[in-house]
This record gives sequence, C-alpha cells and structure tokens, in this order.
Amino acid sequence: MGYPSTTVKSKWVKTKWLLKRASIRKYVPHTLLFNRGNLSSMLSRYSTVYFKPTGGTGGFNINRIKKLEKGYQIQLNAKKKRYATVNALHNQLRKRTSGQSYLLQKGIQLATVNGRPFDIRVMVQKTNGGVWKSTAIFTKVGMPGKVATNYHQGGDLGYFRKTLSKAGFSKNTIDRKEKELKELGKSVGQLFDKHSSGFRELGLDVALDRKGNAFILEVNTRPQFYPLKQMKDKSMYRSIMSYAKQYGRKR
Ligand SMILES: Nc1ncnc2c1ncn2[C@@H]1O[C@H](COP(=O)(O)OP(=O)(O)O)[C@@H](O)[C@H]1O
Ligand SMILES: [Mg+2]
Repeated sequence: MGYPSTTVKSKWVKTKWLLKRASIRKYVPHTLLFNRGNLSSMLSRYSTVYFKPTGGTGGFNINRIKKLEKGYQIQLNAKKKRYATVNALHNQLRKRTSGQSYLLQKGIQLATVNGRPFDIRVMVQKTNGGVWKSTAIFTKVGMPGKVATNYHQGGDLGYFRKTLSKAGFSKNTIDRKEKELKELGKSVGQLFDKHSSGFRELGLDVALDRKGNAFILEVNTRPQFYPLKQMKDKSMYRSIMSYAKQYGRKR
C-alpha cells in the first residue's frame, strides 16, 4: 500500500517484542506457537484458548477452543465441533492450518455490552516531529454468536466511553482506562521503534476482561479506519486522517 510506514505481518514476532518490555509484558496474554506439546500445555492451564494464524488479519480463521467436561470444542465463525481427545483436537487443528504457522493464546473473557463481547482499538500515530500519539480510541462490538469482533466479521464500531458505560463501567474507571490505554499505545510505539525503523502508525487490539483488566491481543501495523467514516460523529475519522496525511496516507 502506497505510503511509507513499516509493516510487520507476523503476530509472533510482534508478540515477542511486546514481551521484552517489563512494563508492557503484563498486558500480553500467554501466547505460544501452535504444536502438539504447546496445545496440551495451554489446555491444561486455560479453559479457553484462541488458535489464530500468525500472519492473519480481519478476524479470518480465528478459532476458539473450549475445554468441555468431556472433550473439547472448536468454534470457527458460528460453527462448533466437538472432539473427544487432545489428539483428535490436534489433528483437526493441524488440518485447519493448511501448513501455515498458527498461534495459541490464552482466551480473555471479553467484557460485554447488551450481551455482545467487545474489544478496543487504540490508534497510535507518529507526527512529523517523531512523537507517538494515541489519536483515537474506539470499540468493536462483536456480532452475536461469532468468535471475532472485527468489522469484517460483522462487528459494529462504537464510541469508547459510551460502550464502556453501557457495559457497566463507572465514569471513574472509564477515565482511568482511557488514560492507561493511550499511554500504552505510546509505549508500544516507542518499543516498536527499538526493533525496526519507519513506523508511522499502529493499531492496538485491546481486550478488556469483565473486571476491566486490559490485554493486548495484537498490534496491527496497517490499521484500517475507513469504517469510522460511517459513524455519526466523524471527528475520530477526521483526526486520524489529519495525522495520516503527514505521512502520505490518503484513506
Ligand atoms: N486471546 C483472545 N481472547 C479473546 N478474544 C480474542 C483473543 N484473540 C483474538 N480474539 C478475538 O478475535 C479477534 C481477532 O483477533 P486478532 O488477534 O485481532 O486477529 P486479526 O488480525 O484477524 O484481527 C479479536 O479482535 C477478538 O475479538
Ligand atoms: Mg485484530
């Protein structure tokens, strides 16, 4: 795409960067590369594990694995299947990789609004002066019954304060979270600069669990924001665009 900002596709590479900084590490859910041994060790610790392509985007091929009283369940989109043993589960997951690299990540039980799980996008951009700024923060409210909250999976965009308020968080907590996540965005920008050059923008996908603890699910180096154009309040879109123009991004 024709504007200068570094792209890093591998979620595994980016996760390892996040884990190197003590102040950021606590935001990263336990993540391992997919293989038989890591699958059984993740399932011995967590009741829900996400299985996602290391190079994926748009919420495609995001599988949720749940431990059942007997056996395991995989959900992809709205489709659920059961497997009796870790072996059977592993065989099925291996088929689903089509030879591509996949990650296993501890499942975060997402906070909900009207019964729908949501997560948060923190848009971070670097000014011509070289300073990282969190320029927008909004929510992605998942389509009922689906695994991923992405816009491409039928998710709806929401306003940060409004979504969190409807989800039952107090004004005080919302203020604190907004500040915390904007600071986190800047820190991640600074950290990424230590590992590669030429980054101008990042989009953090942040999960909030039911208690309000934040977790970074992934960091996008080519974050999309055109769907924000459809929101009633266009100020977020305009603000992001004004920063984007500084590095030649047109949409
Ligand atoms: N560990 C997790 N816990 C809870 N939900 C997750 C987890 N990983 C992914 N998801 C859900 O799937 C969506 C897509 O995952 P993500 O890692 O952002 O991949 P993509 O690059 O496809 O957007 C997330 O926005 C979230 O709704
Ligand atoms: Mg994402």
